[in-house]
Amino acid sequence: VKSSGGNETGKFGHSFGYGFLHEDINNSGDGGIYAELIQNRAFQFSEAFPVSTDSYVPINNAALSIKFLDEPLSKELPASMHVAAGNGSYDTGKIGFKNLGYWGMDVRVQTYTGSFWVKGAYDGHFTASLGSNLTSDVFGSVEVPSKSVDDDWTEHTFELVPEKDAPNSNNTFSITFDGAETKGLDFNLISLFPPTYKNRKNGLRVDIAEALADMNPHFLRFPGGNMLEGLTNDTYWDWKDTLGPLRHRPGFQGVWGYQQTHGLGLMEYLEWAEDMDLEIVLAVWSGLALDGNYTRQEDLQPYIDDALNEIEFVCGPANSTWGARRAELGHPEPFELNYVEVGNEEWLAGYPEGWETYRAYRFPMFYNAIRAAYPHMDIIAAAASSDPAPEGETTGPNLSEGLVFPLDAVGDYHPYREPDELVLEFDRFDNDFAHIIGEVAATHVNGAEYPRWNGSLYKFPWWIGAVGEAISLIGYERNSDRIPGTFYAPLLKNNNRFQWPITLIQFDADPIRTTKAVTWYCWSLFAHHPISHTLPTHSNTSYGPLYWGAGMDENRNGAMVWKGAVYNTTNSEDYPVSVHFQGVTPGTMANLTVLTNSVGDPYMYNDPLTGVNIVHTESSLLTAGSDGVFRFSLPELSVAVLDTEVS
Ligand code: AHR
Repeated sequence: VKSSGGNETGKFGHSFGYGFLHEDINNSGDGGIYAELIQNRAFQFSEAFPVSTDSYVPINNAALSIKFLDEPLSKELPASMHVAAGNGSYDTGKIGFKNLGYWGMDVRVQTYTGSFWVKGAYDGHFTASLGSNLTSDVFGSVEVPSKSVDDDWTEHTFELVPEKDAPNSNNTFSITFDGAETKGLDFNLISLFPPTYKNRKNGLRVDIAEALADMNPHFLRFPGGNMLEGLTNDTYWDWKDTLGPLRHRPGFQGVWGYQQTHGLGLMEYLEWAEDMDLEIVLAVWSGLALDGNYTRQEDLQPYIDDALNEIEFVCGPANSTWGARRAELGHPEPFELNYVEVGNEEWLAGYPEGWETYRAYRFPMFYNAIRAAYPHMDIIAAAASSDPAPEGETTGPNLSEGLVFPLDAVGDYHPYREPDELVLEFDRFDNDFAHIIGEVAATHVNGAEYPRWNGSLYKFPWWIGAVGEAISLIGYERNSDRIPGTFYAPLLKNNNRFQWPITLIQFDADPIRTTKAVTWYCWSLFAHHPISHTLPTHSNTSYGPLYWGAGMDENRNGAMVWKGAVYNTTNSEDYPVSVHFQGVTPGTMANLTVLTNSVGDPYMYNDPLTGVNIVHTESSLLTAGSDGVFRFSLPELSVAVLDTEVS
């Protein structure tokens, strides 16, 4: 049986990459991996999401109201919150507000870094505190001196170290001041960060970032997904709005039901990639929005120029126009960039007209411009060979024949599927051209009713889904001469914001509940055993219920690796496996790692509320027999890796 096919991964210059798509969905950015604790910190708004004092609660009857002052903090942040003594009684003279955070805040003995801007005359001090939302407990507070004035904005900065850990995450951050000393004050950009991943200013939440890094990922694709496209042609994710000081970031009308801060901007994504040593897939806006409207050919050039500027910002030398802007923001060294994608799921929004225009001129115009400026880059078209044909045509996009897209373009394939269907993915790319698997996940249970997307997705990634997914991953990896990598999507979910339940990591304000989904364990296992080359394989049985692929890793002294999974729910007997790597002699040792579901039920998942992890990991050291063969057996619904690197 032909398995891996002996493909070289050389074209892409790296081992098959396991990675992530990130966009802000399920509060995965704001209130998620972006570590800011204050929700609605700058009263940002958009047509879809009106400005409000949401997430703020008055203290001692203070009156909170939104103002659009003649002299706002910046033109990008025109709204602010006015805080004045209310009509009610308060005995201490202290008034102010608390912020509820993103459904709470994790409070422990560590240094929190905060800031806020005030306009209005006040000669006194503010008290910034972290306290319980349930009791009167205050875990820590700090006095912040002020000499703010009427005619300008004054920034206040502070560090706050609580004296004790809070028992739970139902906590708030408050600012109070002496109400009798002012006529009222205007506040904006109220910000509070805990320590961040790799101590970046404006950085990432440590536990979530560590959970991702632990997977040994290779790729980060951003900024979406749908987020890149925007709801309308006027509201796409404009990278320029995301740069520089927070007071000059206007925020973004998110596409998943909430306003976004733009705190997690282009530079933060790049630093995320740098800090986890991830290869970047940068998606540039192609002129098509989710409502199906698209930019006409005659108006497209400015957007192509904009994409070239964005690419220059990422990887241009520090003396180029946009490279200089990056240098000014603290990163003179260019980031490495080898993959650029033009748009997202272009066959979907505005089908068929938008899709026609993508094939007819939008992709070719972007492609030609990027190819001319950056000959080394892989340019990704936001569609796969299997996506629906335009009306009146019977074939797919014809990417492979070069009729529409240049032959060296890479496609982007997004299988959100049932586990059975993912198993069928195993040989999907044996005879196709280059694609990234830009988004993939088991989302629906087997036999889900059609039309599937009208029904609900499963609750969390579940075991049989993870095994089906693992088989599709082996199928992609064994074609790694044409498939540079695969991206889990969507990546994260704050359990308090529901758009899409199937994510790699779930979390809420309390890191104790940050949960790696079952599927994380399969991706992690495969990612921790990279291969630089696939190997041709032969077998005396055909695929199913056992699926496998094999390879060797030049970067680990030629270690031989076998990856397999058993997809069978009807046979409770273990499945016997014999693996012989050519050239491996009797007595050679190898590590076998086998993942199974410890509770039996194939529909079980790792539940953030109970904290139970159902993935059972077993490792053993095997010795090749006198015939050089490794013999072992695998249970039903298991995922395994055999690796001759033994340390
Ligand atoms: O991952 C969720 C969404 O699925 C992405 O935004 C989009 O690209 C796809 O349709």
